[in-house]
Formats: sequence, C-alpha cells, structure tokens
Amino acid sequence: MAASKCVVITDDEQGYDLDLFCIPKHYSNDLERVYIPHGLIMDRTERLARDIMKGMGNHHIVALCVLKGGYKFFADLLDYIKALNRNSDQSIPMTVDFIRLKSYCNDQSTGEIKVIGGDNLSTLTGKNVLIVEDIIDTGKTMQTLLSMLQDYKPNMVKVVSLLVKRTPRSVGYRPDFVGFEVPDKFVVGYALDYNEYFRDLNHICVISEKGREKYKA
Ligand code: IMP
Repeated sequence: MAASKCVVITDDEQGYDLDLFCIPKHYSNDLERVYIPHGLIMDRTERLARDIMKGMGNHHIVALCVLKGGYKFFADLLDYIKALNRNSDQSIPMTVDFIRLKSYCNDQSTGEIKVIGGDNLSTLTGKNVLIVEDIIDTGKTMQTLLSMLQDYKPNMVKVVSLLVKRTPRSVGYRPDFVGFEVPDKFVVGYALDYNEYFRDLNHICVISEKGREKYKA
C-alpha cells in the first residue's frame, strides 16, 4: 500500500514563539515553542474525516478511541465525521468504544504495553473498526493492539493517528491515515501528556527542560 499522505513537519521547523498564542499561565515556563497550533490541527482533522469516510466503505464503523491521549483528536474527528454524515446524501452509522493502554514513563517507552481499561473487545467481531490514536512513536503500541484485535476477528481494521514521529526507533509501522509527521522530539498538548500533565493545553508544543524536570515521575 502507498504510504499515507500527511503534513510533514521538517527537522528544522522552529515552531512559534509562545507569546504569539494563548498558553495557560501554569505552563508558561514549561514549554519551549508552539509546534502545531490548535487551528491547524482542526483543519487537518476536517480533511482526515473526509478521507476516512471515503476509505472505509458503506458499512457500520466502530470508532475505537485509544485513551487517554487520543480523546481530543477522537472527539474532534468524530464531530467532523458527524457533520459529513449530516450533510451528504450518503451516511455511515457509527458507534464508539474506548480502550486504555500505557507504555510511557517520563519521555521513554517502558517497552511493555499495559492494557488498563476498555470494554469487552468481542463487540468488535465482524465490524469495521477505526482505531483513533494520538501518536505513533516506535509503533510497538499499535502493533500490539492490532495483534490483540485480530483475536476478535473484526471485518476490517484501519488506524488513524494524528501524529507519526520520524524516529530510528520505529519498527516500520505506518497507519492508514496520518495527520502530521513530526521530528523525533517529545511533544505535549491537545491531550498528549508528559506524566499526565499538558493534556489541558490546546496547541501541540515542545516541552522545555524546566517542564521536563518539574513534572518528572
Ligand atoms: P509507541 O509504542 O512507541 O509507538 O508509543 C506510542 C505511545 O507513546 C503513544 O500513544 C503516546 O501515549 C506515547 N508517546 C510517544 N511519543 C510521545 C510524545 O512525543 N508525546 C506524548 N506521548 C508520546
């Protein structure tokens, strides 16, 4: 399959000065730069909604949100899909489900992926499943989740990730739909966290050394 097209953010991208955007006061010293402003995330998500509807056929879709990092992207993506369903001649019924996985401590993958929540996955049997994820780093989390799902025999599984990191640690996994490809830096905001902090930030930002120390586990 051809690599999924996306917005590519190059390694020399400087992002934007924090003072040009609205940042919660409690994070003003903890961030380096604004990397992807909220408006750009929304505009790209709107187009992803259209591509997903085109790519997933006419069958009932179960949208599976990977918590917690995926919740903002999931909510906004579904709002755009719902708008398409309301305003076009063709529409696809959609139901939602949630799964919670954890693999990170500080900014490092622990190497082991823990499933710490989620419904009975047997509800996915025979369904067209859309997995909605925040970021693919090494790709190990998604590979593990995909192999777990195969046991429940879904009809089709597609993955959309808002971000994909360009990293030498990648196992080579690439999702079906990608919002942005980003350099190998730790990013936070728009529900992406560093030890649970920064989920309450609208823009995707690069964390500062101070922030890293302050919220270290
Ligand atoms: P992977 O298994 O290495 O692909 O890691 C995927 C998971 O790691 C994501 O779902 C995130 O929870 C977390 N992660 C990886 N990189 C970042 C980052 O830059 N910021 C926040 N979370 C990250």
